[in-house]
Amino acid sequence: MRLAVNIDHIATLRNARGEQEPDPIAAALLAEQCGAAGIVCHLREDRRHIKDNDLARLRQAVTTKLDLEMAMTSELQQIALSTKPELITLVPEKREELTTEGGFDIMRHFAVVSEFLQPINAAGIEISLFIEPDRHAIELAAKAGADIVELHTGRYALLHDEARAEELTRIREAAAYARSIGLKVVAGHGLDYRNISPFKEITDIEEVSIGHAIIARAVMTGLDEAVKEMIRIIS
Ligand code: PXP
Repeated sequence: MRLAVNIDHIATLRNARGEQEPDPIAAALLAEQCGAAGIVCHLREDRRHIKDNDLARLRQAVTTKLDLEMAMTSELQQIALSTKPELITLVPEKREELTTEGGFDIMRHFAVVSEFLQPINAAGIEISLFIEPDRHAIELAAKAGADIVELHTGRYALLHDEARAEELTRIREAAAYARSIGLKVVAGHGLDYRNISPFKEITDIEEVSIGHAIIARAVMTGLDEAVKEMIRIIS
């Protein structure tokens, strides 16, 4: 199973001071050097973390695979067409949410989605739809022109015990169905160091997309060296 690393929260940290560091592009390169199969960023309407200039720099720097997560707006469609990431992932976006809260509602938006995706598809950019692990949603995603479905694991991450096991079964079955109709399958949202292991057994899922847990872990594992280095300098 491959790992795609979402570097949005490096930008969140940088933006807290409005200066240059930490640089999400440097983080992306480091993630690639360490084996990440792809770099993911979400250019939000409010630009709360990744900014337009970050996306342009990521396009220059990333050599594995750049995945632009985006809402279904004509502004983002134009940005995708001019930036040409290897793939885009269509996600729902609400201005007030802290993070993406659920899968894209393909049932509701089917007609517009198909039309929206056409020029992106024609430009040779792969298309992923972030959806719930649901058979009907997967079927519609394929009909709308998706090459990949990213199954939403946010519910799985929040549940416990039997309810979590049931959700995992739902994800496993959805992944098998998606593969059987020719789609590539990714999973993401809320995955972390404690809840990821069962996914190793789901061979239909080729890749996981993880952001927050990795950036949060990096802060804690890196703090040790960062403190020691400062003490060395001032001693
Ligand atoms: N996949 C999608 C479609 C997302 O929107 C996000 C969050 O930006 C992720 C994966 C990564 O989620 P997390 O930060 O919880 O690992």
